[in-house]
Amino acid sequence: MSIHKVLRMGDTRLLRVAEPVTAFDTPELQQLIEDMFETMKAYDGAGLAAPQIGINQRILIYGVDKNPRYPDAETVPMTVLINPEITILSEEMDMDWEGCLSLPGMRGIVSRYTHIRYSGYDEKGNELEREAKGFHARVVQHETDHLDGILYPQRITDMRQFGFLEELNGKQITQRQPCDNV
Ligand code: NI
Repeated sequence: MSIHKVLRMGDTRLLRVAEPVTAFDTPELQQLIEDMFETMKAYDGAGLAAPQIGINQRILIYGVDKNPRYPDAETVPMTVLINPEITILSEEMDMDWEGCLSLPGMRGIVSRYTHIRYSGYDEKGNELEREAKGFHARVVQHETDHLDGILYPQRITDMRQFGFLEELNGKQITQRQPCDNV
């Protein structure tokens, strides 16, 4: 296993539309998924998309475990999601802070759909389908954007609510989630 460097905003490889995965249950895919999990852990992230380590394929991992320091935080099951498709189940949207491993130290307020259904495959090629709300739905929308070359600043409508976490802390931001780097 190895930890990869996470690309940062400005690297044009983050702007590409990623290719669907066509071969499942291969040693190469298994290795890539393991490397992604190790990289996400090393960077203390809640999610990682393959394009963030320079792999132009439609592969996501994400998950947030229960954290005793944030007992009210929503959890998200640890998931491998390949070739994702999202269906919006409610037009309702919610504004909240997001961070991204490709913009270290920064946070911005982004509007996301509150209730979605998503489907895709795991690394073995098993189908996966889930409904998600709230933070879970937000993470999946953020990660899926990475596969279409979209970073969260492109979704910010009020650029005054975008900045360095160190400056935002104690002013307007409240840490609702243990790790919002996705
Ligand atoms: Ni991200």
